[in-house]
Amino acid sequence: MSNINEELILPNGVKLRNRIVKSAMSEALGDENNDTTQAHIDLFAQWGEHGAGLLITGNTPVDRMHLEHAGNFVLDSETDMNKVLALAKAGKRGGATFLVQLAHAGRQTPEIVNPHPTSISDIRLDLPGYGKPKPLTEEQISILLEQYVRSAQLAQEAGFDGVEIHAAHGYLLSSSLSPRINNRNDRWGGTSLDNRARLVLEVVKAVRAAVKPEFVLAVKLNSSDFQAGGFDHEDSVLVAVMLEAEGVDFIEISGGNFEEPKAYQHSSKNEFIEAREAYFLEYAAAIKAALKIPMMVTGGFRSTSVMNDAIASGKIDLIGMGRPFITDPTFAAKLLSGEIDRAPVIEEQFPPAEELPRIVQPYVCNFDLG
Ligand SMILES: Cc1cc2nc3c(=O)[nH]c(=O)nc-3n(C[C@H](O)[C@H](O)[C@H](O)COP(=O)(O)O)c2cc1C
Repeated sequence: MSNINEELILPNGVKLRNRIVKSAMSEALGDENNDTTQAHIDLFAQWGEHGAGLLITGNTPVDRMHLEHAGNFVLDSETDMNKVLALAKAGKRGGATFLVQLAHAGRQTPEIVNPHPTSISDIRLDLPGYGKPKPLTEEQISILLEQYVRSAQLAQEAGFDGVEIHAAHGYLLSSSLSPRINNRNDRWGGTSLDNRARLVLEVVKAVRAAVKPEFVLAVKLNSSDFQAGGFDHEDSVLVAVMLEAEGVDFIEISGGNFEEPKAYQHSSKNEFIEAREAYFLEYAAAIKAALKIPMMVTGGFRSTSVMNDAIASGKIDLIGMGRPFITDPTFAAKLLSGEIDRAPVIEEQFPPAEELPRIVQPYVCNFDLG
């Protein structure tokens, strides 16, 4: 029976030492030039030395005009690569595989960073603190593809094992998938899912062609935006199939966006205990049923028994966790050895993000959640 301690070999041959993944969490530990810092490097050294099979950095913008958060670590031509080499080395020192999460915040770029960010359309985020965006032009789309390629190549040069393209949580690529936001009438949008998926597929194609085959390429995708008229679960299954065809090594499933912060629930009201804890599990299992590549799901996993059952039942392959790694950076080793059978659950001390008044949500999303 498979369990969290078992190795996993990805389609490109990279071996993960176990099934526990530290999901992306915006660390905001970059300096004034958005370079990585010693605190950032030390944090990843600690995470990497304490058990997780795979580490994914927080939201790493490919374009410094589209940070998701002040203090993001940026990977572009102005980045100090000596520091990035140290970051990659620190995260991998204990035997973990290490990916950079590449992102462009689109309309979820805070106004203080960019009052008029580029987005897929001019539809503004329905929260205070975000300016009216400008729709990407064809020329800007070509530049954007080059930015993703350059950042992925820099990650490869620095010694990372791969990249995860962030196409979830309402950022640029995620908003492009949404019929609610992507109202374009050209080949990059509108009612056709093929058109709305074109941007993320072109990013994946361009990156895949520019990096070595053994460099891992993953995508974080919403199971649904959970918004009326938004990207829904049926679309998510179809897009996952398209991503698989482009050579993606695994897909991570999450859900929601800043307007609908479903990624940060405490638990769901599902009748099954397993799905109550891991609130996107059933969505991810339905997507995995349509695919051959491994599937990771993140959101709410806390008990070893729920994690092992999810893997043994074949519903998913990798267990992503975020908040427990903040509470105790060493917990994964304890969970894998059986010393504990439950990850720390600090979030229960706070109200769930979706229950906060809307006026407070941007602060939670913008300053604490990526
Ligand atoms: C402080 C914080 C920052 C986050 N930043 C990111 C991010 O940069 N990129 C991302 O894809 N998800 C981000 N997330 C979401 C997590 O990866 C994860 O999907 C979410 O926390 C649910 O998993 P959990 O219940 O194990 O915490 C962040 C979450 C937290 C708590």
